[in-house]
Amino acid sequence: MNERTIAERITFHDAIETMEVDFSHLTMADTVQVDAFYDEVENRLADTGRRWYFLVVYTDCVIQAQAWERFAERGKGANVAHGLGTVRVGATSQTRDAIREHAGRASFRANIYDTREQAIVALGEMRKRRRDAQTAAEETFLRVENVSLRFGGVKAITEISFEIKRGEISAIIGPNGAGKSSMLNVINGVYRPQEGTVTYLGHPRHQMETHEAAAQGIARTFQNIALFKGMSVLDNLMTGRNLKMKCNFLQQALYWGSAQREELAHRKKVEEIIDFLEIEHIRKTPVGRLPYGLQKRVELGRALAAEPILLLLDEPMAGMNVEEKQDMCRFILDVNDQFGTTILLIEHDMGVVMDISDFVVVLDHGQKIAEGTPNEVRTDPVVIRAYLGTTH
Ligand SMILES: Nc1ncnc2c1ncn2[C@@H]1O[C@H](COP(=O)(O)OP(=O)(O)OP(=O)(O)O)[C@@H](O)[C@H]1O
Ligand SMILES: [Mg+2]
Repeated sequence: MNERTIAERITFHDAIETMEVDFSHLTMADTVQVDAFYDEVENRLADTGRRWYFLVVYTDCVIQAQAWERFAERGKGANVAHGLGTVRVGATSQTRDAIREHAGRASFRANIYDTREQAIVALGEMRKRRRDAQTAAEETFLRVENVSLRFGGVKAITEISFEIKRGEISAIIGPNGAGKSSMLNVINGVYRPQEGTVTYLGHPRHQMETHEAAAQGIARTFQNIALFKGMSVLDNLMTGRNLKMKCNFLQQALYWGSAQREELAHRKKVEEIIDFLEIEHIRKTPVGRLPYGLQKRVELGRALAAEPILLLLDEPMAGMNVEEKQDMCRFILDVNDQFGTTILLIEHDMGVVMDISDFVVVLDHGQKIAEGTPNEVRTDPVVIRAYLGTTH
């Protein structure tokens, strides 16, 4: 009989960020025993001041019925307080079933393996997934570096750099002809800059194709509304789903049923957006018959139908009255809030920009003259001279 102490059954493997707990050949007869073991485990974990993966060995361990509830509860407690993930080895089929049953109830994964080697391989994969997720969280969302764009002799953009953070609302402002629309066109691949790099979701590229940009979750609205004027609001919004449609024409002909199901799913999504933008009453109206402010809202809807990660809005409030502007502001804030969409917008109305933006980039004559929070930018003398001095 192996009479190791509880302390001897706990091993920390620093190199793989793992604490191994060895329950092998133990019988857990009651809650007192369970508590004694887990108190030791929790104390040792707490002493390290960090989280660990758990490798739990159950070979020939017996947990008696009256101890199960407490055993499961303490295991879960340790995991919540100190764990990064758990793999289990060598449980008897009875213990396995009990673990699986508990896992089902508490909605965590059982992760039981036959051998220690298999469990350690699984641990490696678990650690890699977590590392990848961390890298994704830290990666650059959108960075523009030294971008220059010329049309013949016209310098639309000269060596502009800035960075947009995921989840924020950012604004590009500046006088007419400053290069604002051109900048959006570079970001979504309509214009190809002669120099510079655009890094999106961690991938730097010199040039982006428009279909790539769309496939990677970039949607936009235009300074001059780009909708099908003769088509209804609903149909215009459906065009925003194009990229998401898996069935092509041939498939539609061959697999009519699945195409129909897909169409229904897309309609549902579009109806949600119609609801969200409060345009139910005009869903069947041809867009051309709508007042300008509503057309702008429909265009926002078309962009939202693509379920974008990054939404580019080129003067979404231009030509609107005060009330329409307030509505549009609210929708932009709600999109950001409810869908987590990152937004980069161009706007002339300084008041609006200051109200809703986290970050502002100021362009003038194709160059960046300032960037910062709305307050920093508003009080910058260079900005006041270049931008506020003009008649916008
Ligand atoms: N396709 C093009 N061909 C030639 N010149 C262009 C083109 N697009 C933009 N430009 C020029 O590039 C410069 C920047 O234009 P851009 O439209 O980016 O400015 P903007 O800041 O959006 O201005 P606005 O406030 O008037 O919309 C301008 O001088 C414009 O004439
Ligand atoms: Mg413009």
